[in-house]
Parts: sequence; C-alpha cells; structure tokens
Amino acid sequence: MSSLLAVRELYVKVADRVLVDGVSVTVGAAESVGLVGESGSGKSLTIKAAMRLLPRGLKASGEIVFDGQDVLTSSRKELARYRAGDVGLIHQDPRAHINPSRTIGQFVTEGVVDTGQMTAAQAREAACALMRDVGIGDAERRMHQYPHQLSGGLLQRVMIVAALLPGPRLIFADEPTTALDVTVQSEVMAILLEQIQDQGRSLLFVTHDLDLAAAVTDRLAVMYAGTIVETGRSEELCARPLHPYTAGLLRSRPSTTQVRRLEAIPGRPIAAYEVGTGCPFSGRCAFTEDRCRIERPARRELEGREVACHRAEELRECVS
Ligand SMILES: Nc1ncnc2c1ncn2[C@@H]1O[C@H](COP(=O)(O)OP(=O)(O)O)[C@@H](O)[C@H]1O
Ligand SMILES: [Mg+2]
Repeated sequence: MSSLLAVRELYVKVADRVLVDGVSVTVGAAESVGLVGESGSGKSLTIKAAMRLLPRGLKASGEIVFDGQDVLTSSRKELARYRAGDVGLIHQDPRAHINPSRTIGQFVTEGVVDTGQMTAAQAREAACALMRDVGIGDAERRMHQYPHQLSGGLLQRVMIVAALLPGPRLIFADEPTTALDVTVQSEVMAILLEQIQDQGRSLLFVTHDLDLAAAVTDRLAVMYAGTIVETGRSEELCARPLHPYTAGLLRSRPSTTQVRRLEAIPGRPIAAYEVGTGCPFSGRCAFTEDRCRIERPARRELEGREVACHRAEELRECVS
C-alpha cells in the first residue's frame, strides 16, 4: 500500500534536548494506525510535528510527506491548505482547544469558510447535517450555543464535526476519549470510527491504551522514550509481541477474559533525552544484558514486522 502519510526519521528537539528520537511511521489510504505508549513517550509531539503545530521553541527535523507534499518545508499557503483540508486533528481535551467566547457554529464553520471551501450558508448546512450524523440532536440550536453549555462528550462530538467538515483524508486523533467520562468514551469512539471508515479516511490514533488501539486499528507502532520500539499488524503484535516493552504493556493491562495478577512494568518511563547510549528500555527490561546497556538496537525486520531489540529472536518464545 502506498502511504498517504510518511513520517521518516522525525526528531523533535528543544535546544539540544531530544524529545522525539527518530520516529518513522506511515499511514496508508483508508488505513488506521495506532501510536501507543506511556505518557511522555512523544506521541503528541509526533502528531503536532506532522501538522507543523509544534509549540514555540521546539524544532522538528526529518521528513514528513503527505501525498507527495513535504510538510516540513511547505510554504505558509500550502500549510494552510494542508491543515484546513487534507488533515484533521482531534485533541484529548476539547475544552482546552476551543475558544470559550465563540459559538459552536462559529468554531465549526470558520475553517472551511476562511479557506473559501464553502460559503457561510453551505458550511452551516453541512455542519448541521454532520452534527446529526454524530448524534447531536437539535443541531440548529447547538450552533448558537457556547462551549460551556455543552457536556464534554458533546463537545468532543463537536470537535469531530469540526475536524471532518472539510473532508480530510487523514484524521489525527490524540487520545480523543481519554478526558471523557467512561460512560461516553465508547460512544464517542464508535462515532469517530464510523465517520472515518464510512468515508474511507485514514486515521493516526494516539493512545496509551494498547487494547483500545488494537481494537480500532490495522497496524500499531509502540513508542518508548521518543522512539518506536515495535510495529506490526495490530492483532499479531498483541498476540505475539516481539519487544519486551510491548509484552510488558500487554501484561500490565486488565484482562476481561482472564483473572490474573496485573504485572506493572518496574521503574518509570523515561524521556528521550534521558536515554544513554544503549537501549532506551534497558533500565526496566527483565532481559537486559551488557550489550543492551551499551549499544542502541536498530529497528529491524523480524517475522514481517519491525522491532528494536537485540534479543528479539532468542526472546520471542518467552516474552509473550
Ligand atoms: N513544549 C515543550 N517543551 C519541552 N518539553 C516538552 C514540550 N512538550 C512536551 N515536552 C516533553 O516531550 C516529551 C514527549 O511529550 P508528548 O509528546 O506530549 O508525550 P505523550 O503525548 O506521549 O504523552 C515529554 O517528556 C514532555 O515532557
Ligand atoms: Mg499526549
């Protein structure tokens, strides 16, 4: 499958501190890919870099190509078109990303109107139709309301509408349900997936929840300390992890089918700039040997997947 989005050897740095350490990930047309890792592993920065929305002071290098367009070297005009039409972004916390003094209608329609994709009237009509599709009743009235008048779940649906209205080919969803009440999480997730799959859009789904990611994506990339340690088809990766970190994540999550003790991964996650010369996971890994502490494992192919572990072959029978 040719890639719609290709991120190659992405580095994000602040001064000389590395925050994202050589991430490569691709998303094909109509494909859903999950970027999974603990908090601080660099997932959000990867997405922000892919949209050229990094906070001031952070610098990205490497290559980000969307349908042939080099995002990191795009002009202001190309970038505006890319952000407003090609890709859409759904944040973790909708309230932190919406202007409280503007109405829902203004928020949802401003992008497509500003870029000339739709007239204000067309945008309102399309927005109302999409609101009904995502289960927002009384769309006309909602358009005149302010963010504080909507619940978190409803506001995240509004975010989904805003992201989808321009008809983007790729949606970046950064923990889109993490900040919501558990009762509405699965509802919002289902609505998002339906909208993406029905329209054949691509998805880059960021989450700390490996089970959720596996359930909704075709492929997974597991991140640790700013780098990708393992990639593979979602079901294969979960059934048979090749990297000890992936195996640890799988053992540390509650099972709905088995009663067993949860095993937390010992130690704490580290940031990319805290990694020494060796394997980023060596300080927490039960299988670490001298080589792992000294030499950084390159990502390489194994069983049609990719893994960055010196001992992947010898460990594959015992990590999972
Ligand atoms: N604006 C920033 N300035 C400096 N460090 C940052 C900034 N944003 C994020 N970081 C650091 O970069 C690392 C990755 O952050 P992030 O991508 O937000 O992680 P994740 O989304 O996986 O939880 C973390 O160590 C975080 O503290
Ligand atoms: Mg994040």
